[in-house]
Formats: sequence, C-alpha cells, structure tokens
Amino acid sequence: MLLALYRILVMLRTLSAVGPGVLKVFKTSERRLGSESRQRTRVVRPFRRCLKTLSASQSGRTSQSSDKSNYEVLKETSGMSDWPTLKDKIADVVSAGVEKVNPALSTDVSIVETTRSSFGDYQYSGSMQLFSKLTDGHEFKSSRDLAVTISNMLERGDMFDKIEVAGPGFINFHISDTFISQQALKLAQNIGSSSKQTFGRHVIVDFSSPNIAKEMHVGHLRSTIIGDSLCRALEYRGFTVSRLNHVGDWGTQFGMLIAYMRENETSFTENISDLQKFYKNAKVKFDTDDDFKRRAQIVVTQLQAYDEETYSMWKHICQASRKEFEEIYDQLDVQIEERGESFYNTLIPEVLQQLVDKDIAVTDGGALCIFGQDSEVPLICRKSDGGFNYASTDLAALYYRTQIEQADWIIYVTDVSQSQHFNAVFEAGRRAGWLDGRKVTVVDHVGFGLVTGEDGKRLRTRSGETVKLKDLLAEAKKQCFDQFQARGADSSEEILLESASKLGIGAVKYADLRNNIATNYMFSFERMLELKGNTAVYLQYTYARVHSILERAGLQTGPRSSELALPICSALQERALLLQLLRFEDAVDTTLAELMPSKMCEYTYTLCVLFNNFYSECKVFDVQEEQARLTMCVLTLNILAKCFSIIGMQPVSRI
Ligand code: ARG
Repeated sequence: MLLALYRILVMLRTLSAVGPGVLKVFKTSERRLGSESRQRTRVVRPFRRCLKTLSASQSGRTSQSSDKSNYEVLKETSGMSDWPTLKDKIADVVSAGVEKVNPALSTDVSIVETTRSSFGDYQYSGSMQLFSKLTDGHEFKSSRDLAVTISNMLERGDMFDKIEVAGPGFINFHISDTFISQQALKLAQNIGSSSKQTFGRHVIVDFSSPNIAKEMHVGHLRSTIIGDSLCRALEYRGFTVSRLNHVGDWGTQFGMLIAYMRENETSFTENISDLQKFYKNAKVKFDTDDDFKRRAQIVVTQLQAYDEETYSMWKHICQASRKEFEEIYDQLDVQIEERGESFYNTLIPEVLQQLVDKDIAVTDGGALCIFGQDSEVPLICRKSDGGFNYASTDLAALYYRTQIEQADWIIYVTDVSQSQHFNAVFEAGRRAGWLDGRKVTVVDHVGFGLVTGEDGKRLRTRSGETVKLKDLLAEAKKQCFDQFQARGADSSEEILLESASKLGIGAVKYADLRNNIATNYMFSFERMLELKGNTAVYLQYTYARVHSILERAGLQTGPRSSELALPICSALQERALLLQLLRFEDAVDTTLAELMPSKMCEYTYTLCVLFNNFYSECKVFDVQEEQARLTMCVLTLNILAKCFSIIGMQPVSRI
C-alpha cells in the first residue's frame, strides 16, 4: 500500500519535474538564437543538472563553473586541450586579450559559431557579463566600450581578416582565407596518420541493458544506438571506454518464471518468444494465485542461495536471451560487454549496510529507504519483505564503479522516465562520499524520449503488438533492397544485399540519432529512406559521390601527402566547405559536452549540403583548380568517414 503510494508520488513528481524543465529550456534556446549568443542547445540539462554537480561539490572542486559539462572539465584536466580545436584557438586569443585588459577579469572563454555571415565566422559574447562583474571605479563607459578595448588587445596573427565589435559588445571574428586554406592543407596532410591520443581517462557507458526472458524493445534499441554512438565519440577522443550492458537478469521475476516452468513441465526452450509467453503466464499466476506466489518466492530464495538446480536453470534462461540479444548487436555492429544486475548481487548487503551506518538509509514501514534532500519521495533500497530491487542493484553498481573500478566518468543511457531514479541513486552516492577518494568520478544520465509510431503513439504493429526489433531491422534492409532493385541497380545480388544491409541499418540509426535526445521520436520507414532531406540515404549518396570523384582521379586509396595541393577559397562554396571541414573536432566536442549524438548528425548533414553546393558550383576536372579541389574531395571523404563511424553507420561506396 505504502509502496503503491510512493510510486504514484514518484510518477507525479517526475511529470512535474519534466514539464516545466523542458519548457524553460525551449524559452532559453529561443532567446539565444535571437541574439546569436550561443549555438549550444541544452535540452538534456534539466535532467542532468543535479547529477553533474555530484562530484564537483564532493571533491572540493568548487571552483568548477556550474555551467561546464563533465566533458569540458575532463578535457581541461586531461591534457586533451593540448590539441586545440578551431574554437579553442580563438578562445585562447580572447583569453590572452582579456588578461591584458585586466588580469582580474580572466575567465573561461566560450566561443560560438555564428549562423549569419554578417556576424563573421565566430563570436565572443562574454564582454557583457564581464562588464557586469566590474567593480566601481573602472574606466569603461559600457559593455561595448569594454569589448572594443578587448578587441584592440587581441593578437591577430594571420588567423583573422577582421575583428569587429557589434551591438552591446559582441566580438565577431572573420577568419582569413589564407588561414583556412593552410589549416585545411595541414589537416589533409595529417589525416591518414594514426597518432591516436589516449588520456588514461576511464569512462563507463551503461547502455542498451534489456531484460532477460523478455524481448528487447524499441526503447532498448534507442538506448543501444545512442549509447553506442556516445562510446564511439569517446573512443575517438581517446578515452578508455567500458561499454556495459546492465541487463535485468536478477530478481523476483526469475523465481516466478522458474517456478512456472518447473510446475508446467515445460521442456526448456531456447526460444525467446516462448520464454516471454511463459513469463506472461507466470506473472498472471503470480498476481492471482497466492499459493503460487509463495512457491515462487521460495524459488527466489533458492536462486539467491545459488541452489545448483535453480541456478543452472537461470543460467539457461540467460543464455537463451543472450543469444537473441547478440544477434541484434551483431546486426547493429555494436560491441557491448554483459555485466548484468546479478553481478552486483553479493555486494548489495555490504553497500546497504554502509548507507545505514552513515545514516543515509533508514527503515521506514519495514522497507529500507533513502530520503532525498530535494525530494520527499524516498528511494526504496530494500523492500519490506527483505528483497532487493532495481535501486539496491544500482546503488551497489555505483559503489563498484566508483570505489573499485575508480572510473572517471559514468554515463547512463535510458529513457527519460528513469531520471528520478538516477537522481536519487546519485544523490545517495554523493552523500555516502563514494565520489571522493583518490580519483573523482562524475556522472551523467542521458534520458531520451519515447519512440512513437506515425500516429504519435507508442510504436506498435498493425495488430497492436509491440514491434519486434528483429522484424524492424529486417524490414529496413528489405525496403533498401527493393529501392535498389526499383532503380535498376546492376550489381550482383550479393553486393546489393550487403549494401542494403549497411544502408538499412544506418538509416535506422541515423533517423534516431538526428533527433534531439529528450524529445519523442517518430519512427517512419518512408521518411528515413527518402533520398532528399536530412536522411542517412542522402548522406550515403553524398559519400558515394565523393568516392566516385576520387575513383575517377585514381585517388580512392588516398594520395601521398606530398601530392596534396593547397585548397583554395576562390569561390564562396569552397570557403564554406573548408571551414566546415575544419570544424569537425569542434563538432566532436559539442557532441560530448552535450552528450547528444544529434550534434554529430547536424554537422554531418551540413557537411554534405556544403559539399554538394561546392560540387554543383565548382568544376573539379579539367580546370586550373583541379588539384586544389581534389584535395578538398580527399578531405571531405575522410572527414565524412569519421562522422559515419561516430554515428555508427557503415559507408556504401556505390548507391
Ligand atoms: N534494464 C533496465 C530497463 O530495461 C535498464 C537498465 C539501465 N541501467 C541501470 N544501471 N539501471 O529499463
């Protein structure tokens, strides 16, 4: 009864926390777009904000600006800033300028890309804030006056054509064509060298995490795709990444299932659909038949005592599910290591005892509860019947990951409805001091929205059942194959099937990733397979186009760096393409700072649009600029390949 009441309260609180949060963010980004001040949208923040500060306050790193993401802090403290991006380079120039004006003003500088060419290529908008911080008796008449003084102090070098002050104190930077060309050449020359940086920073990404004996559903698909892409971006940046599958493989439900299977003499099946059917029947029986419920609870005790026969049955059930999950991961080209809830089981009593000893967990109505500082709804970490639950396991997992593995950063990827749960777990971890110690761990919860059908409701088949992932992926491949055939593709069936598979899977991933994570995402084969617009097919088509240009030039294996000509900015389209190519590393940074693969998608789509603009305006072959333009194609192909790899899409060279 008490539990039911808690649940309702939790739900209500979750709803009220999400609603206004989202609204507030929309308002913020609207304002921002208007003033050109920041391109960074921060929609995930309301769900993440409280988590971010978790270690900051505990570790004494109170100087950390609350506005900084965990990635930005790790980047600064890991030596990653030794390889500055374009934005970093401009930020360094501005920092030095501010320091010269008044050392007391020196602060973290944030530079944004502008969206209108009249504002130049980059903008600094910090002068207004700096002005408001000035104490009495300073010499500046206005924030604009301060901006002018700062801009006069800036070291221009060959990087800028023009630096202008606009409005109340925006500083706009126009990058010089020479700088763009030279940087692009440098990038092209180094692109093949595999000097991979590593930073000895360990990140755990907890993603996918389906439940044993149940079919993986679209929510798990979303977690798998988003989590994998974040891992890929982190790996690209040189983090050591543990990709953990926190599968639901422990708990009362297994007692119920095993008891049912024993009593109904169901011969053991490897088929997950059968298992799911047994699971449903078992649940009905469990809820309606008190005697069965008691018997099931005895089986739970047997399982928890690692009784040989029960344990071996449980292992079989897990194995059957595992086989099914692995098929999906193989198709999706996702690497993940299974470390399910059962892994932490033996650690739970000790971890809960620590929480009791520290007066963090208290018994209430028979259950062990943690009352949060900002919430009246407790986190129940041991049920009144003495059994452990989802929260018990997550507390033990947090302890293990921070204290034993000493990870630097933990990222959890689940649907947004679990944000309240993670807030509570993290708060408990902070109070327990697990985030102190030799190493400091920071945590983020990436909460994503629902996957809906075209009717805006939860995705279901026509007959109203939940969509099976296997069927969904098979359908995507089939539709791509049909498209190839309809277009009269002349390759062998084997090649067509392989391309359709790459294209289909890539399309499902891209259609998901390109959305802002926090919003619901509408699943539509028709839309994701369109040739035009922001789709994977359009990106693949662009990739194939660049590939065929290089093939024609005999450069598909990549030219030697001494053969590369200096790229040029003779046409606007060339300049725009080159600048976008130079912005790749910044796009990786934004993706990781915001924990939003949509940022990588946005970047990739813009790159494709700019390449196609370039190609339609600038002739590549049989012109004086041929070599320069071929270098631009080489760069585009290489950067596109990197983008595809972070998105998790395999390129198709012919389409
Ligand atoms: N198995 C859970 C579910 O299906 C997701 C687990 C996420 N990870 C975690 N550490 N709680 O909802």
